[in-house]
Amino acid sequence: MTAHTSASTALDTPSYTATQLVRERTLRAIRANPSSARISELARAAAAAFVDVLRRHDVTDAEFHALKSWLISLGDNGEWPLLLDLFAERTITERANPDGATPSSTEGPYYIPGQPQLTSPCVLPMRADEPGTSLILTGRVTATDGSPIAYANLDIWQTDDSGHYSGFTPGIPADNLRGVVTTDDHGRFEIETILPKPYRIPADGAVGTLFTKAKWNPWRPSTVHATVTKLGYFPVTTQLYFDTGATSDAVSDRIDPELVLDLTTGPEGTVRATYCFVLGAVEP
Ligand code: BEZ
Repeated sequence: MTAHTSASTALDTPSYTATQLVRERTLRAIRANPSSARISELARAAAAAFVDVLRRHDVTDAEFHALKSWLISLGDNGEWPLLLDLFAERTITERANPDGATPSSTEGPYYIPGQPQLTSPCVLPMRADEPGTSLILTGRVTATDGSPIAYANLDIWQTDDSGHYSGFTPGIPADNLRGVVTTDDHGRFEIETILPKPYRIPADGAVGTLFTKAKWNPWRPSTVHATVTKLGYFPVTTQLYFDTGATSDAVSDRIDPELVLDLTTGPEGTVRATYCFVLGAVEP
């Protein structure tokens, strides 16, 4: 596969400013600035839930001290975001999903903002002779009433053929297999990339220790992450999966079938998949 980035520097289409994005996110926030009463309510509830676990599971003194030491190493390794991504973020993002919009999923720890701007049809930035199976990902971005959304932005990131993310693995260019793709005037996109490979959540810190000791599956299936944005619509962050037989996911008990794409193989070995992202409008 050859490298070809078709990067566009001067997009004459509307795009987000940080302020607009923050305004739209704020609209979705349950409470941007919780009151003292709310903080007290949530802190007490969290403490009570924790004490309930200690009581109901007869946690011993030794187990409690092991937990404290694990929590300290979690903080020392900077792994609180990873733990929250694993166990909590999905609950919040799913509940905030507008009716009829594409199901949202956790952003996860591998998102890096500020990637190359590309105009559909395009090739994601990749190395010369990037290993892997060529994938053509096509589709549309529409509103919940089915009308196309022209010039929406798809911020895409994924693993390479070895299951590594650029920006987190030495030796891989920083923007490899990442880019912000603008749809055409009919809301369509066509992105050439490679089929991502499964990856394991980090094994070398406190979270990895938890997975090893608990004998949990640390693997995530092949996925293309996407955050889809357009001014006037709630952003959607989600993940697309492929019908490659993976049934389990370290991050979730259940992969939403709506997000699992069929792969069709062309004569030259390139695989194709298609998806329609649906965004909910922000009410004035
Ligand atoms: C992910 O979405 O890739 C992810 C989420 C939580 C933990 C690790 C990875």
